[in-house]
Amino acid sequence: MLQSEIWDDQAAQNYDTPGTGMFAPEVLGPTVDRLVELAGGGRALEFAIGTGRVAVPLAERGVPVSGIELSQPMVDRLRAKVDEAAVPVVVGDMATARVPGEFQLAYLVFNTISNLLTQAEQVACFRNAARHLAPGGRFVIELWVPQLRQLPPGQQAVVWESAPGYIGLDTYDVLHQHVVSHHFRFDAAPGHEARLGRSPHRYIWPAELDLMAELAGMTLESRHADWTGAEFTEDSRSHVSVYRTAEAL
Ligand SMILES: C[S@@+](CC[C@H](N)C(=O)[O-])C[C@H]1O[C@@H](n2cnc3c(N)ncnc32)[C@H](O)[C@@H]1O
Repeated sequence: MLQSEIWDDQAAQNYDTPGTGMFAPEVLGPTVDRLVELAGGGRALEFAIGTGRVAVPLAERGVPVSGIELSQPMVDRLRAKVDEAAVPVVVGDMATARVPGEFQLAYLVFNTISNLLTQAEQVACFRNAARHLAPGGRFVIELWVPQLRQLPPGQQAVVWESAPGYIGLDTYDVLHQHVVSHHFRFDAAPGHEARLGRSPHRYIWPAELDLMAELAGMTLESRHADWTGAEFTEDSRSHVSVYRTAEAL
């Protein structure tokens, strides 16, 4: 299951859900507010920019935003909203692709670092972020916390959402630190077929993420449970972590 097969035309067409889900104002508003603050008046680079869910409103707030994105169909959807001059994008792998210029902020949200399936690629992604950043620049990661405490011995699957018409469950391979997320969508009436979408991930503990940052020459500046600055605790399901490169001497 390659990322390019997952993020195809159909996924790109169905991605945007204006006003709801990850596009709801209560989700997107605090995300953009915090990124404006962290950009500090400088340029921002979004790794895996997708259809511009975050980049477009960030650019509308006056932050110059560029992007890296693997999927041409996702970039095509972005292009229906803004042109290349407004939000330039390099089509390529966020672990290796180079975007011209220097940035004050790089960010990788919505759990997307876990789309890189090996530790080596995830470390390369941190290093790639670091080489785009000015001294004192920041790299922001939004990532879920692996829910291994919900996994009794011998059981591989955790249902993380069960709602009318939708079941989301993760299957864990704890030996290789891999998860496959399964998204079942179905009509309410019994007898109708369900549609299944799956995506593979490599899960990362917060401490491992911090070590990846150190390998790339960055240190943890802050970690919160969400974009509004809620305290990160042992029960947090997700985190927003801000890493920083060293200031110039
Ligand atoms: C969940 S979407 C997130 C998109 C956007 N950042 C957002 O918050 O809406 C994941 C995106 O990551 C992209 N992606 C996956 N692996 C990638 C890689 N190695 N390099 C660049 N983009 C990648 C996919 O094509 C897809 O657009």
